Amino acid sequence: MPTALQTIGWWMRPLAFPDRVRARADGRRYTLKLAGQPPFVLLTDPDDVKALMTAPPNVLHPGEGARILEPIVGPNSVILLDEDLHMEQRKLMLPAFHGDRMQRLTGLMDELTERELDGWPLDAPVELHPRLQALTLEIILRAVFGLDEGPRLDLLRERLPQILSFGDSPISLMPPLQRLMRGRGRFGRFERDRAEVDRELYALIEERRAERDGDRDDVLAMLLDATHSDGSPMRDEEIRDELMTALVAGHETTASSLGFAFEQLARSRDVQERLAASVAADETAYLDATINEVLRRRPVLTIPEPRLVKREIEIGGWTYPVGAVLCAAAYQIHHDPAIYPDPYAFKPERFLERKPGTYTFLPFGGGRRRCLGASFALLEMRVVLRAAARRFTVSADRPRPRVRRRMITIAPGDGARVLLSRRPSPPSPSAAAAATERAAA
Ligand code: HEM
Repeated sequence: MPTALQTIGWWMRPLAFPDRVRARADGRRYTLKLAGQPPFVLLTDPDDVKALMTAPPNVLHPGEGARILEPIVGPNSVILLDEDLHMEQRKLMLPAFHGDRMQRLTGLMDELTERELDGWPLDAPVELHPRLQALTLEIILRAVFGLDEGPRLDLLRERLPQILSFGDSPISLMPPLQRLMRGRGRFGRFERDRAEVDRELYALIEERRAERDGDRDDVLAMLLDATHSDGSPMRDEEIRDELMTALVAGHETTASSLGFAFEQLARSRDVQERLAASVAADETAYLDATINEVLRRRPVLTIPEPRLVKREIEIGGWTYPVGAVLCAAAYQIHHDPAIYPDPYAFKPERFLERKPGTYTFLPFGGGRRRCLGASFALLEMRVVLRAAARRFTVSADRPRPRVRRRMITIAPGDGARVLLSRRPSPPSPSAAAAATERAAA
């Protein structure tokens, strides 16, 4: 297929295009040629993905390919680094994102979620995606940045989305043009917003260093406590860059995953009923299985970070030269009928029967670059879907939801448009059992 057609397919049909490739090519890998990019080799075999994810850090560089994020996340961001520098930042951040640690943020997430859900309109079509974006932003500002209610929170709530929207502008893809446009036009506006945000963030870090309140559970508290291998604390610039990294990596991704969850639930009444019954019984197994199924059907990064080859590497009998770019084809692996029978059906039950596999379930990528915020994102999805399942039934007013590409991620194409109705009362045990049987069938 000509490069132009591949590029159009990739941008305009983010899921139909890889589905079509799967139908045409039955090999274990294929090369995607996008205009202005080096050829991307997509690996569709879990054994090859394992080799990719476990290759030594000096052989593959995921960080180099993410350089276009630097104006927003800053040069110290874990996402931009490779080899030892990457590992050093990652180790500093790991304790802050540890699963047990995250549990302590549940109360705050519950409170913010209930407040947001109070404002959702009933019995009329509503686009949930913008509301979920507002909620995931609020959760990050409170639970990661550790901001309390007040003027600083109000200012950052307004400015940060403006900074993030720079990523949608074509200038964000052209660093040489940015140098020419310093202080002017769209880039100048972005620079001014960023300077204002940075002033607030550095003031926040300084205040929190002085405060030394040992009771805080937010991610900033952990970063202030983290020390480099030589015992020195993280510099203010490092902390600022990692806070912005968490925002860039964790805000849209979680909002879109939740949007997809509502879209899928709206089209599966049986799954909804079983979910409501299990939530009412304070069980988590079906809730977690539902979240896994949403992430399987709609991995917002259809491919995790592309890995640039720095030293020749052999994977699956093929040798890749320096300069090639290798990717795990997460979306395609998630829809391989040999791994997931009936792959296009939305069936959380499949994850009750077996746990997600390390190299067959890739919404969070894998290896030493696996998403640092996975526990945070899963907790957030649990809190929001549990609260919604208690309050609402969800239905759709259109047969098939559309999907659109937003830079490297995908998002609900119709803004996750659904209809919400008040759930009368928790389903009775017999209704729940019947729903379970229907959902399993
Ligand atoms: C459902 C929500 C999310 C999804 C689907 C997601 C997915 C991903 C993926 C696919 C990667 C690349 C992994 C790889 O290339 O192997 C990644 C990296 C990363 N994510 Fe997430 N993410 C989510 C939420 C979050 C949140 C909430 C945070 C932080 C609060 C976060 C922080 C990060 C960071 C820091 C990295 C870079 C890790 C590194 O380079 O070592 N993510 N994420």
